[in-house]
Amino acid sequence: MSPRNIIIEPDPILRKKSEPLEQVTDDTRKLLDDMLQTMYAAPGIGLAAVQIGILRRVIVVDVSKKEEKREPIFFINPEITFTSKETSLFEEGCLSLPGYFAEIERPSKCKVRYLDYNGKQTELDAEGLLSTCIQHEIDHLNGILFVDYLSKLKKDMIIKKLQKQKKDIDKAIL
Ligand code: NI
Repeated sequence: MSPRNIIIEPDPILRKKSEPLEQVTDDTRKLLDDMLQTMYAAPGIGLAAVQIGILRRVIVVDVSKKEEKREPIFFINPEITFTSKETSLFEEGCLSLPGYFAEIERPSKCKVRYLDYNGKQTELDAEGLLSTCIQHEIDHLNGILFVDYLSKLKKDMIIKKLQKQKKDIDKAIL
């Protein structure tokens, strides 16, 4: 297992739609293991493959609080089959937009159908933070970032600042 580099916005790849996997193989599991490692190292509670530059419909999530008792969930080709009318607000951040947070309103419950680590078709009912996290990660697979739910003014400001930070880092490397 090896952690990979996380792609930071603005980057055109983060706006691309990821493709489904045809089957779950050892290579898929290697990718999932690397993604989990990358997410824990960051640290974060969710990561989509596109965030490490791989345009596949694969996400990992772990909303457990304690490091000793980790509860990773791997989702391959996840599809939301139900969302509640009732919504909730969570302060969201994203490993691809480091340092920025905003309250985002999403359906509080969702049902998601996916293939698990072993390629088995599975369905999960999620609520609370897990539900928000799954919806945030599935958005990544469709090229959507949480800032897209903000006003254009706020979104542009955040992206502009991130762009400037990236330039500063490039300069430092030179
Ligand atoms: Ni994210």
